[in-house]
Parts: sequence; C-alpha cells; structure tokens
Amino acid sequence: MSADKRAPLVVTIDGPAASGKSSTAQMVAARLQMRHLDSGMIYRCVTAARLRAGDSPEHWTEQSVLDEAGRVSLVPGATSFLPRLDGEDCEAEIRGEAVTGTVSLVAKMPRVRAWVNALVRATAAAHEIVVDGRDMGTAVFPDARLKVWLVAMAAERARRRILQRTGQAPTSEALATEAAELEARDRKDREQTQPAADAIWIDTTGITQVEQVERIVAMAEGLR
Ligand code: DC
Repeated sequence: MSADKRAPLVVTIDGPAASGKSSTAQMVAARLQMRHLDSGMIYRCVTAARLRAGDSPEHWTEQSVLDEAGRVSLVPGATSFLPRLDGEDCEAEIRGEAVTGTVSLVAKMPRVRAWVNALVRATAAAHEIVVDGRDMGTAVFPDARLKVWLVAMAAERARRRILQRTGQAPTSEALATEAAELEARDRKDREQTQPAADAIWIDTTGITQVEQVERIVAMAEGLR
C-alpha cells in the first residue's frame, strides 16, 4: 500500500471471474460513502455497442470497436456509477449471453483497454471510488492506497453464481459445468488478471461476504 495521504481515496478490488468483486465493492462503497465503479461493466458496454452493428465478431477490428466506444458513458448514481449506451440504461443487455460470450475478445484489445482505463481514471479524478476489475491495482491505479485481491476456489465461485442466478442450491452436474466455464474464462482473461505486488489477498472461500466487507472497510478507514 502506498502511503500518499493527499490523493483522493481509490480502493481497488481485483480478482478472477465470480470471485464476488462487484458485490463486495458495492457494499464497501456504500459503507464508506464512496461510489462503486465496475470496470468490467465498461468492457461489456463497449461490446454491446459493437454488437449492435450486427456483423459477426470474427470480423471485428480493434478500430471498429473503438469507433463505437464513445457511445458509452457513466452517470453517477447514489452509490455507484451506472452504465449508459447512447445515453440509455443497458444493464440487461450487457449481462446477456451475447455480450458475455464476446467481451473477452474486446478486453484483449490494447487500445480498447487504454480507452477504458482513461475513462476509469477520469472518473476517479473527480470522485472517490471503489473500483473492481482485473487490473485496477496494477495497470490503472498502481499508486492506489488500498488494493485488494479477492480469490475463491472455482467450485465455490460456481456455487455462488448458480445460487445468485437461480435462487437454488446447484446439483453436482451443474456445479461441475459452471466451475469448468469459470476456469475457461479465467484462462481467457489470465493475461490481465494478476495481483499487484502490494495487494492484500482475501480468500473468500470460507468467509461470508459480510466478513470480507468488514475487513476491507476497516483497512480503508485506517487510511482516511
Ligand atoms: O467482471 P466481468 O465479467 O464483468 O468482466 C467482463 C470482461 O472484461 C471479462 O472478459 C474480463 C474483462 N475485464 C478486464 O479485462 N479488465 C477489467 N478491469 C475488467 C474486466
């Protein structure tokens, strides 16, 4: 952790898919009266913008994706930044299968990453944020005063994800399928999903979300 007390507080929460980053970041932000920014949501919005053109992703060039990126914006809500595509709510679209299946491709494009990172940094220049993603504590905010790296075993991440989606405990087959999908996504995103050397690791496999949030809030309060 850097000791710079003058910079606006940025808390970064990174980790692999379904490690609980966004929900944890949302709760931490609410407790600290900061705003949550989900950087993955921005990659999803850019992907949704490009998907609307209707041609097959195998033909997408980096430039053709960047050309659509300017249609994406963020608006500050009470406790988080909300995504807008052409000025409209796009939450359902960005969580759908089409975007989820294509977003890794977009997230691999270096100039798209630079565009997203600039938007995230500009947001943090004007607001105190709790930001979650894959590389927030490394590429985007190397000087953040609090960096968290959240991990959990794939089976546990799969169980939580199914529970969240269906409201029911998963069967063992469903669990195995979901865990395999999560591990495949981890492999696709591996390059940009690395902990910062000065990140605090929290393994959430055996602790509740309330405990995770308490630990992060306590560390952040010590920095204010
Ligand atoms: O966390 P998520 O599933 O909403 O992320 C969507 C995609 O964006 C996923 O492929 C990982 C990628 N991503 C990234 O490369 N860097 C980030 N800071 C956040 C997300």
